[in-house]
Amino acid sequence: MILHDLVRDVTPAVDGSEKKTVAAIRVPAANEVADLAADIRQNLLQAPYSLPPKYFYDHRGSVLFDQICDTPEYYPTRTESKLLSRYCQHIIDRLSVHHIIELGSGSSRKTRHLFDACQMLNQYPQYWPFDVCEPMLIQTAEELMLQYDWLTVQPLEGDYSAGLSHLPKPHGHSLYVFLGSSIGNFTEQQAVSFLKEVSQHMISGDSLLLGIDRVKDKAVLESAYNDRQGVTAEFNLNVLSVLNNEAGANFKLHQFNHQAVYNETESQIEMYLQSLADQKISFPAINEALYLQNGEKILTEISRKYSLEGIESLLAQAELEITDHFEPANEYFSLILAKCSK
Ligand code: SAH
Ligand code: TRP
Repeated sequence: MILHDLVRDVTPAVDGSEKKTVAAIRVPAANEVADLAADIRQNLLQAPYSLPPKYFYDHRGSVLFDQICDTPEYYPTRTESKLLSRYCQHIIDRLSVHHIIELGSGSSRKTRHLFDACQMLNQYPQYWPFDVCEPMLIQTAEELMLQYDWLTVQPLEGDYSAGLSHLPKPHGHSLYVFLGSSIGNFTEQQAVSFLKEVSQHMISGDSLLLGIDRVKDKAVLESAYNDRQGVTAEFNLNVLSVLNNEAGANFKLHQFNHQAVYNETESQIEMYLQSLADQKISFPAINEALYLQNGEKILTEISRKYSLEGIESLLAQAELEITDHFEPANEYFSLILAKCSK
């Protein structure tokens, strides 16, 4: 596949630079995955009520997530960004990278440190951002190609939890990137199978750059998911709008409260939407209803925090070998570089 063929259109932008327009390639699910109707039936309509986190990310959800990253309480983005700015040159210098394949790329804001390092070192890889949120993918691809005139971006749209065997396997060495501690949004078992998928997709010479949030003081963790501006609350509640828009549900957002608590036994933040009334929510599209009593909760996300031993065990179980481990002085976050141990 010649990537340049996929750039559909080139239009001059106001500042005279050329704006390239891209289209995303759809990555089909490799394993059978539940659709929205099945997810609602399986997770939301029976206690304990929950929802898979991918539904957070319509365009508004992705924009809100980006705003969470800028709140003073949400330390992970800043911490990971600092680690990347400090160590990317070292990382890129040691690897010869032809492709950067990023899982759950969002606005690719931190990935720019990798591109800067590549530019400094005269390495010009292609970039493959993979995400469920197509509008965010396209907007980001267009911005990146303006910012880095050498960069070819091929957005990939799909669900990474549906298996990775249909991800493109471009020729040359790939650096897989999974940032933002998105690995923590899986249960440990899901995290191991996901990393195994990544490891199975890798060929000799490929690497994985993985960002993982660490176990720390409960107060620091809870304030990161309860920012004072209320952006996280808005993001959490937005998942109900997604269900209203996509499943014709009639959630009233003001009838719910955002809650994020750290469960020390499980080492995880648990994010809930708590019902503020006895209420009935209808899903006419699937002819179902949800009856919630005042105080009942829907689990919308977990965010697991890992210890050093936990990280080592996770990667070992996925047959990945840690080659480098970067962390700040306060040990708040880990940036791991790994290769497959096959
Ligand atoms: N990597 C970025 C964004 C993290 S937010 C950062 O570190 O800041 C999580 C991102 O993963 C969002 O962009 C969301 O759309 C995407 N995402 C969540 N679940 C996904 C899934 N199952 N498949 C593909 N992308 C997913
Ligand atoms: N991977 C991020 C994390 O676990 C996702 C995230 C951050 C998030 N803040 C959130 C998800 C608020 C839901 C709500 O930190």
